[in-house]
Amino acid sequence: MIHRQIDVALGERSYPIYVGNDMTATFAPTCRQHGIPDRLVVLTDGNVAPLYLQPLLKHLRHFKFDVTSITIPPGERQKSLQRAHAIFTGMLEAGVGRRSAVIALGGGVIGDLAGFIAATYHRGVPLIQVPTTLLAQVDSSIGGKVAVNHPLGKNMIGAFYQPKFVWTDMECLRTLPAREIVSGLGEIIKYGVILDAGLFDDLEANIDRILSLDREAILRVQTRCAELKADLTSQDEKEAGIRIVLNYGHTVGHALEAAGNYRLLNHGEAVLLGMIAESSIALAMGMIGRDVHDRIVGLIRRVPLKFRANALDVSKAIALMSHDKKSIAGRKRFVLPIRVGEVQVTEGVDRSMIRSSLLSTLNLYKTKSR
Ligand SMILES: NC(=O)c1ccc[n+]([C@@H]2O[C@H](COP(=O)([O-])OP(=O)(O)OC[C@H]3O[C@@H](n4cnc5c(N)ncnc54)[C@H](O)[C@@H]3O)[C@@H](O)[C@H]2O)c1
Ligand SMILES: [Zn+2]
Repeated sequence: MIHRQIDVALGERSYPIYVGNDMTATFAPTCRQHGIPDRLVVLTDGNVAPLYLQPLLKHLRHFKFDVTSITIPPGERQKSLQRAHAIFTGMLEAGVGRRSAVIALGGGVIGDLAGFIAATYHRGVPLIQVPTTLLAQVDSSIGGKVAVNHPLGKNMIGAFYQPKFVWTDMECLRTLPAREIVSGLGEIIKYGVILDAGLFDDLEANIDRILSLDREAILRVQTRCAELKADLTSQDEKEAGIRIVLNYGHTVGHALEAAGNYRLLNHGEAVLLGMIAESSIALAMGMIGRDVHDRIVGLIRRVPLKFRANALDVSKAIALMSHDKKSIAGRKRFVLPIRVGEVQVTEGVDRSMIRSSLLSTLNLYKTKSR
């Protein structure tokens, strides 16, 4: 059943996000309603396929869609031009033509990769996002950023390409490993800090319920995050302005993710740490007081994040930060909190401050050995 509909307003590229549970029965009619062509390709990964692929294919065939599927191995490394090339080959060999559509069934990796395929195959075919991780449901499936990675940088090859609709079935979260719930909470807490003190209050009161997948708490938070992302996308589709606030926690987070070779930390986990470090920078720069800092860090610390903090190389992370694509003329831009619910873009954070904030963040997670 669909419980909520949130609209991304972008003129003729506008689209709805449907949020609900046990939604498969109405997927095909929704495709018809949106004028999706009969020929469909579902892209998914090896973890999601055994859980959700067959029922979806069966349902679509029942409604007379001509559907094939491509299952790739799971993992960030699949977001590559090589993998995209292999998928293009498969689609061309199968005779998938211009009047077809791509369905992304999976987490952010599948969403970004399938989005890239849809944006470029035959110069663009319709895309439907069916996000199955918490992170993808509250963030990556919304907003139209699609990409593959290059050995020289993450998300370097891509486009802005909006889906026809987003189909968020909360039931998918029940099969998600606990680590992926933690990861999704990274982006969720981010929305509270950057834009919405009310959401932050809700998280403080209910984070334990969210961690235990309480349906009502999840639906409320998910809907709010989707509304916030939809609103930012409507205001700034191509990230020329306000959408930059979404980068809170990400300047440090991306560097930590890369310093751990994308294995030690996944995206959302790195964002959790990035938000702690960047709050410490804001405190050191006098942009927030100790009270706000402690509130933000206190909430993040309630998320059961586990990783080998000793294995992260801080110097490597700092070196990586100076090569980040988002620095302008070598000056690193940080999105830093000025209170709960509001951030400011700041330049000129000095290196020693970045270093000490990183060290103190990692110290919080180091296991004490005597
Ligand atoms: N486009 C954007 O705006 C945007 C925003 C944030 C993140 N991202 C990208 O998203 C990616 C991370 O996405 P993610 O965290 O969803 O990772 P992911 O796609 O790798 O999924 C995480 C893991 O969960 C498994 N999985 C997915 N759904 C499942 C389910 N319902 N049950 C059991 N297992 C399931 C996957 O196979 C995978 O092993 C990164 O590549 C990041 O760059 C993009
Ligand atoms: Zn992110």
